[in-house]
Amino acid sequence: MARAAPAFTCTACGAVHRKWAGRCDACGAWNSIVEETPLAAGPKGVTARGRTVALSTLAEAEAPPPRTVSGMAEFDRVLGGGLVPASAILVGGDPGIGKSTLLLQAAAAVARAGLSCLYVSGEEAAAQVRMRAQRLGLADAPVRLAAETSLRDILTTLDAERPGLAVIDSIQTMWLDSVESAPGSVAQVRAAAHDLVSFAKRRGTAVILVGHVTKEGQIAGPRVVEHMVDTVLYFEGERGHAFRILRAVKNRFGPADEIGVFEMTGAGLAEVANPSALFLSDRDRPSPGAAVFAGIEGTRPMLTEIQALVAPSSLGTPRRAVVGLDAARLSTILAVLEARCGIPFSGLDVFLNVAGGMRVAEPAADLAVAAALLSAREDIALPADTVVFGEISLSGALRPVGQTENRLKEARKLGFTRAIAPARSKLGAGEGMRVRELSDLTAFVGEMFGAG
Ligand code: TYD
Ligand code: MG
Repeated sequence: MARAAPAFTCTACGAVHRKWAGRCDACGAWNSIVEETPLAAGPKGVTARGRTVALSTLAEAEAPPPRTVSGMAEFDRVLGGGLVPASAILVGGDPGIGKSTLLLQAAAAVARAGLSCLYVSGEEAAAQVRMRAQRLGLADAPVRLAAETSLRDILTTLDAERPGLAVIDSIQTMWLDSVESAPGSVAQVRAAAHDLVSFAKRRGTAVILVGHVTKEGQIAGPRVVEHMVDTVLYFEGERGHAFRILRAVKNRFGPADEIGVFEMTGAGLAEVANPSALFLSDRDRPSPGAAVFAGIEGTRPMLTEIQALVAPSSLGTPRRAVVGLDAARLSTILAVLEARCGIPFSGLDVFLNVAGGMRVAEPAADLAVAAALLSAREDIALPADTVVFGEISLSGALRPVGQTENRLKEARKLGFTRAIAPARSKLGAGEGMRVRELSDLTAFVGEMFGAG
């Protein structure tokens, strides 16, 4: 039988190439392509006859999966209401962001809730994990621990123990002796993830895989792993900030885009039940350049402060620095302000930031961004009791956004009394807020800053 041709895979984007190249055509990354050992073909290939698989109908009654609620509410929320048996979960994040801490705490919570738990560390020695557990006050939790990287041994152990939850920290350290490439390579990671996911499905064990993320923000090498698992969670946060956000980007058992908010403390990760209060905590008096955005993260409303600084530029091309928001979105909003409202930002450096290290991806933040930019440019503070939300279209019109009532309710809860929103926002009772509805950006500029 002819030997299968070798395949070359990009570790950054997972694209498959026929030959090695210094640069990946698909994503443009340099030195990211590695050779993969092809899988051996089956004994008779696809011509051998298989058996007929059993077929069923869609109507057959299916009970919702019995979930284990760990009691760590932010973790349960992101999973869609608790841990589903036989599910495979990937938790990605930068090295040092707190993945091991989170999962040790989660494993302890799940174990205390009555599910047998096994924590396999491929990165730290058992003594190190034990020391951390003691520091976190988890030493008495019935979690069993192994420090091992040989996947064959781990799978044999899992098969014998049949735990309810197995945490593998991390997938990049696992290796299979049947795969020729080095630990951490795409082939190893893919094979290890495949074996662990099929173990989960076969034996009903929930498996959590930890994956390190590369600088480009993808789970190192194994983007492929994302397709194999049921749930992909990212653990993110800014270095220098204590807030950590666990974000579901894919979830077969719950809503995607759900977030859990934590704070890294000396005693591990503390859950933050009311993130709005936290992200707005240091607002004592109104300052120019700040606007409070009433946003929605997943299923929950969340207020964040958008901050802008506008200063004369000494550069030919003024600077546009953005943290926590999409840079392309800033360019669009600046262009709309210039073209539709006649407010130029050329010759001005613009710095834009979401307070507290939060990241905002909603288009509904447009109006708050515009408000912060205008407030910074005109050096006029927005009223301290006002929240802002709405999408800006290229024509300068304000488009209504979803979940208006939830946004207003959260703002009311945090002591705000006024809101600026797009016209036709489908307001109900207004939730005790005075809402100013505006149809376009020019009207907003006129209202807030006296016609710019
Ligand atoms: P860790 O969970 O080891 O990160 P990862 O597994 O993602 O690489 O967390 C490492 C960081 O967390 C480390 O810089 C110290 C900090 N930390 C605390 O601040 N408090 C704690 O209680 C613990 C356990 C860690
Ligand atoms: Mg770790």
